[in-house]
Amino acid sequence: MIREWLVFSSSSLIAVLEVLAYLFVFFVGSLFIAVVVLYVLDVTQTRHAIRRNFPVIGRFRYLFERMGEFFRQYFFAMDREEMPFNRAQRQWVYRAAKNLSTMTAFGSTRDLRPSGTVLFVNCAYPTLGEDAAPASELTIGPGCAAPYTAPSLFNVSGMSYGALSKPAVQALSHGAAMAGCWLNTGEGGLAPWHLEGGADLVFQIGTAKYGVRDSRGRLSDARLREVAAHPQVKMFELKLSQGAKPGKGGILPGAKVTPEIASIRGIPVGVDSISPNRHPEIESEADLLDMIERIRSVTGKPVGFKAVIGSTDWLDRLCRLIVQRGLDSAPDFITIDSADGGTGAAPMSLMDYMGLPLRESLPVSVDQLRAYGLKDRVKVVASGKLINPAEAAWALCVGADFIVSARGFMFALGCIQALNCDKNTCPTGVTTHNPRLQKGLEPHGKALRVKHYVENMCYEIGVIAHACGVREPRALRRSHARIVTENGLSVPLDALYEARKPADEQKTFDNDAAC
Ligand SMILES: Cc1cc2nc3c(=O)[nH]c(=O)nc-3n(C[C@H](O)[C@H](O)[C@H](O)COP(=O)(O)O)c2cc1C
Repeated sequence: MIREWLVFSSSSLIAVLEVLAYLFVFFVGSLFIAVVVLYVLDVTQTRHAIRRNFPVIGRFRYLFERMGEFFRQYFFAMDREEMPFNRAQRQWVYRAAKNLSTMTAFGSTRDLRPSGTVLFVNCAYPTLGEDAAPASELTIGPGCAAPYTAPSLFNVSGMSYGALSKPAVQALSHGAAMAGCWLNTGEGGLAPWHLEGGADLVFQIGTAKYGVRDSRGRLSDARLREVAAHPQVKMFELKLSQGAKPGKGGILPGAKVTPEIASIRGIPVGVDSISPNRHPEIESEADLLDMIERIRSVTGKPVGFKAVIGSTDWLDRLCRLIVQRGLDSAPDFITIDSADGGTGAAPMSLMDYMGLPLRESLPVSVDQLRAYGLKDRVKVVASGKLINPAEAAWALCVGADFIVSARGFMFALGCIQALNCDKNTCPTGVTTHNPRLQKGLEPHGKALRVKHYVENMCYEIGVIAHACGVREPRALRRSHARIVTENGLSVPLDALYEARKPADEQKTFDNDAAC
């Protein structure tokens, strides 16, 4: 019996080994044939020099180039090295969103020597915990039929449904509602997913007027009234320009224009959705104020605009015109977007070179408003890489009334900075409409992360404020921050930015100068 069993098992083993041997020979043979075919293809083609000169092996270059992005991010890049956001910045958001401790050990990995480094001025007698207060609420558009008292200092910046996936918008909507902050719809119109969670909404009007356009693509008062009738829609933001692509309209690649998005926007399915690079009806400061007044009177709600600052002459003309027309004519808020802001898709030449970064444009714009006595009337919303508490606190010191972030919230949703937002292949489901990839983004769990991110952000901005000796973040002033200069020594922000005067007094203003 045992002998028979041994004979049977040894013959089975031999059979298995035989099959494996055949498979091995088949595998090596196929590999050899594949290499020969690739070799012939490479030496006979004329498009790629590397493949022609180094057949087969030259193909690895493309693979390594692609893999390099991932290897650098995970293995080689130092904590403070990557762009647009380094690992230290991202880690803070990931941990804050998961409500884990954001403490770090041993010592700072931030180099405090380069010029431009911001340092806060600690007070000899910091604010005691029991004297600390949360950031106070602020009312935007007090003269409107329906002013908006915004509860949160930190809010979600415009990202359209289209650029973002459905579960991402759902998570932001629920999370913003739980955190008590506003959610800006971006320029892609109002989707049911924006409304779903019950958050306060800012409806953005882009140059294509998605969601509020008539059949000829012009702004429709009737559609504006319909949108304003949603009690959740608290304000309207007219988008003049966006940090990543000033002078270019929104771009939604055709691969992301699904039937649902096409119907919300009123555009054909699968075709690139490209907005005009300017509102055709706004070509002067007077047009801008007229448009703001029109939207405000139709909707009864606060209206502001979003812009990247390049030249400041037009801001000067705008302020002067507001003073002439009266304070009621002013925009209720201005969102200043940084030149290094994010986007779903933009030309590199605009992304890398156009407009001023926030560290330059925010102080200039705040000073401009102050010079004309408009700073209380027109609230300033700062936007651009303010994803950690220290950057947000800097913006408050400079004079911002509110902070908004887009990519900070993308990180809270799980974004890994794969830089694929324009390809419909986002691996975390944040910016793709591929249902398989969206599966990873569970909206309710991620909504909680959005809530925690806002709460921890506000808490830690408060920690900075208290260390500076003030009770709450809105009390931060320029004297509370310093900036390292070229000689390695720091100067206080209030000394760095001299008080600006209206252009008349500077005698430099040329009324005919364009922009
Ligand atoms: C995926 C994505 C989509 C965006 N869509 C819009 C948009 O529809 N309208 C807009 O004004 N800005 C849009 N932005 C820009 C952001 O609102 C914001 O101004 C910019 O990213 C700077 O903020 P951040 O550095 O916190 O991301 C988008 C940004 C991203 C990353």
